[in-house]
Amino acid sequence: MAEPAISKRKDEHLAQSLGEVEADVSAGFEAFDLEYDALPEIDLDAVDLKTPLLGQTLEAPLVIGAMTGGSEEAFRVNALLARAAAHFGIGMALGSGRAALLYPELLKTYAVREVAPVPLVLANLGAVQLKEEAFSAGALSAFTDAIGADALELHLNPLQEAIQPGGDSRFSGVLQKIEAFLEGFPKPVLIKEVGSGISQKTARKLARLKIAGLETAGLGGTSFTKIEAMRSDPGAGRLAGLELSNWGVQTADSILACRNALGKDRLVIASGGIRSALDAAKALALGADAVAMARPFLKAAMAGEEALFLFVESFLYALRTVCFACGCVRPADLHSALKKRDAARD
Ligand SMILES: Cc1cc2nc3c(=O)[nH]c(=O)nc-3n(C[C@H](O)[C@H](O)[C@H](O)COP(=O)(O)O)c2cc1C
Repeated sequence: MAEPAISKRKDEHLAQSLGEVEADVSAGFEAFDLEYDALPEIDLDAVDLKTPLLGQTLEAPLVIGAMTGGSEEAFRVNALLARAAAHFGIGMALGSGRAALLYPELLKTYAVREVAPVPLVLANLGAVQLKEEAFSAGALSAFTDAIGADALELHLNPLQEAIQPGGDSRFSGVLQKIEAFLEGFPKPVLIKEVGSGISQKTARKLARLKIAGLETAGLGGTSFTKIEAMRSDPGAGRLAGLELSNWGVQTADSILACRNALGKDRLVIASGGIRSALDAAKALALGADAVAMARPFLKAAMAGEEALFLFVESFLYALRTVCFACGCVRPADLHSALKKRDAARD
């Protein structure tokens, strides 16, 4: 099929993401520790990672972060990720559905449930795009129905849009647009960033809305600002993007900010620079209901299905083991093992 320009951008994001696109700042988990308990007084077999999320039950509190859709290569990646999500019973978020809404022939590149029975599917769109007529609540509802998504994530990405060549940085009125959209959209909606994090101030503004939850997509992992800088021609935009790619809200801080703003009843998904089961366990201990990773899944998928399956299996093995050695039967209990580093050394 002859692919539109938007498909080319999707392919460039995938290719670019395999390079050096992570922030040079940590996600902030080194400030915390989980107390290792050599006498956990539970059996490893007793650990139960099962997690209810958005009306579905996951085998573990893990979601494949929003990445792609909208080109043949994107579909190849989505299909691989969908097989892993279904096999391990974890959630899967899709990349922005803008391509499918503008070019309906690209819808099939998002139809992951036709590939495998993924337990939880999250669709995605840039919140700034809600200003355009093509992205009405009705259109998004039809899109999420067509691909069988359980919920929608709207992403906020002012830094990315400012650096992206031809990006849409008209963010005035976006909060009202989201509010109006929520009135007409029938499925749960979460709001996320794309690697620069959600601050206390942002979280408070969003908490007033009828959202199901927030995903941090904090600073310390993939920097979309850096990805756009690398895609730009050499010049001022590229230099500005590289400079600003280390700015934002570290994921650990963003988890606390989101949890604080949302209270206990709504969801917080931790993401941005989660690179190990220990990071994930700390994120859960800090108050997240689940964690998402994007680039680590992409890298593993690019190495093939076997590498991808081994990556997920070992991650879950390690997460289960961390729960065991903290004496926690459920991931939700990890909070009891959390220590601030300084306090841990006292
Ligand atoms: C190739 C690629 C494409 C992405 N596309 C989207 C997207 O379409 N929508 C979105 O909300 N986030 C997108 N992201 C951001 C991720 O969902 C995630 O928030 C970010 O990469 C931080 O997580 P990580 O450090 O685990 O990669 C993309 C990330 C990557 C690596």
